[in-house]
Amino acid sequence: MKGLIFTSFLSYIEEQFGLKFLDQMLDTVDVKSSGIYTTVGTYDHQELLKYIVHINSISKHEIPIMVEDFGYYLFTKLSNEYPKLIKQFDNSLDCIYHIDQTIHRNVRKIHLNAELPNMDAKFNDTKDQLILSYHSKRPFMYLAKGLIHGCIDYYNDDISVKMIDLSNGNSNKAKFILQ
Ligand code: HEM
Repeated sequence: MKGLIFTSFLSYIEEQFGLKFLDQMLDTVDVKSSGIYTTVGTYDHQELLKYIVHINSISKHEIPIMVEDFGYYLFTKLSNEYPKLIKQFDNSLDCIYHIDQTIHRNVRKIHLNAELPNMDAKFNDTKDQLILSYHSKRPFMYLAKGLIHGCIDYYNDDISVKMIDLSNGNSNKAKFILQ
């Protein structure tokens, strides 16, 4: 997983819980990278999951809610990092429709080793409902949910999101109905 996701996660933790909490988390959780990330590096996504499990074990924060909340925060970070990839769209449904074929496709060109999910988007005939299918080797469907909400708010749109969990408890497969 790209370092940008990790550096974003550490700033999210600092903003949410404070610098002292972040330092304690990095001291406690044993990861191969020792918690040192560069935006362009690549790291094991399990490190992210270890931090989240750690926070869950010492607080009342539920894992899916935390991952979704981070996804929401991450959208702003990604849109700041890759402004050109976002600015070409007029609204959130258009942006989300183009995640796989345009946004993530370009991310793959920039980072040859990017690990991205499979996403398939289809509009209905009247173009007011978008169905997005998410499938990944990694368990990040709640991250996708947060990113979707972040995208909707970025464009100030009023769209409802319904997530159907198809993952049998693995959090790696879901369908989103956006309307
Ligand atoms: C609603 C919008 C988006 C959704 C639902 C989405 C979904 C995801 C998810 C779920 C992942 C985690 C990897 C996995 O599940 O296998 C991911 C990774 C990533 N996405 Fe997106 N994404 C969105 C928008 C964007 C945008 C706007 C950008 C950049 C302009 C972007 C760039 C990336 C990058 C760099 C990664 C990390 C790849 C890696 O770790 O190797 N995404 N995306």
